[in-house]
Amino acid sequence: MTSAVRTQVAIVGAGPAGLVLSHLLAEAGIDSIILDQRSREDIESTIRAGILEQGTVDLLATIEGSRVHIVGQRHDGIELRFEGAGHRIDFPGLAGRSVWLYPQHEALKDLLAARLAAGQDLRFGVTATAVEGVDTTSPRIVAVDDAGVPVEVEADFVVGADGSHSVVRKAMSGSHAGYFREYPFAWFGILCEAAPSADELIYSNSPDGFALISQRSPTVQRMYFQCDPAADAGAMSEAEIWDTLQQRVPGTTLVEGPIFQRDVLRFRSFVARDLRHGRVAIVGDAAHTVPPTGAKGMNLAVADVILLARALEALLLRSDEGPIDGWADAARDRIWKAQHFSWWMTSMLHVAPDASDFDRLRQLGELRSVVESEAGRTYLAEGYTGWPMG
Ligand code: PHB
Repeated sequence: MTSAVRTQVAIVGAGPAGLVLSHLLAEAGIDSIILDQRSREDIESTIRAGILEQGTVDLLATIEGSRVHIVGQRHDGIELRFEGAGHRIDFPGLAGRSVWLYPQHEALKDLLAARLAAGQDLRFGVTATAVEGVDTTSPRIVAVDDAGVPVEVEADFVVGADGSHSVVRKAMSGSHAGYFREYPFAWFGILCEAAPSADELIYSNSPDGFALISQRSPTVQRMYFQCDPAADAGAMSEAEIWDTLQQRVPGTTLVEGPIFQRDVLRFRSFVARDLRHGRVAIVGDAAHTVPPTGAKGMNLAVADVILLARALEALLLRSDEGPIDGWADAARDRIWKAQHFSWWMTSMLHVAPDASDFDRLRQLGELRSVVESEAGRTYLAEGYTGWPMG
């Protein structure tokens, strides 16, 4: 027996994009159903990045029960470190905004609790396998639940918020239709039990490669160092990991502690060619991925759905097709700015495996030209804290 349901907006994916979209739609009086193949526990425990732009925080703070202002920490700057010296980028002074350190999985716990308390139809363990009727006014998600029972959701609009392996993207335009860039390095990430090594995040360029000293809480820290994409996360001893990190942040002594999680994050830049086809759209990682250096991933997902919610309100409540017709171009404006910013931070701070002396000295010239100029620091601060929403 197939279980068939109908809603106004069918959303695949209960990550930040899908959950924030369902919240904004509900506020406008639009019904939605969210399907996710994962369990609630899986969603709440996946470790992702932790920097939120001011605009993302302002939106999350309006959601009932959000802990972003309680557990999250405002950061008014970062340090760029190279040639053994640190250079602070003062966000409020340069851009009039700050960022917040609030781990994505904490934001997801808040969002899931708020949506479920509001009566959102949110189905875990349901895997979307196809989207049918892509060219009609009632597209349909075909899915199957954990018990093997087929599920069909018919809607006025389908949204794929289903991550980088998006089924909805594939149904719209083929899975690889888009613009890519691969990088010849990855990040080795650790979580450790230690006090913070500094008040603010440190982005460090060293002759041996990049390192990022981030934080999670007063007792847990997140750190990364540039590594080979083929690196085996289990192969290094804790002592080797600390030696590597200390060496990459010359001039700072890191506070060490037991490492309780490690992972290798491969990264690439991607933007899908089509963001919308008729009444089907993709958002968040389904539509684009960025290297993590600029901390843009979740912020860009939230920006996509703020614009999409406005366009769906016009379409579904007022039969006004103008905003949805303009949505992909409006979203793309921000996506490509964020792509550039993420690529720029990445290429300015990492050392490519084949970098020549020329490349290395040019990179130091670039870093100096950013930190020594108010215009350079302002450019970085504006991009990092997020451009205002149009
Ligand atoms: C993190 O804390 O995981 C983090 C912070 C800043 C970044 C990337 C990741 O740019």
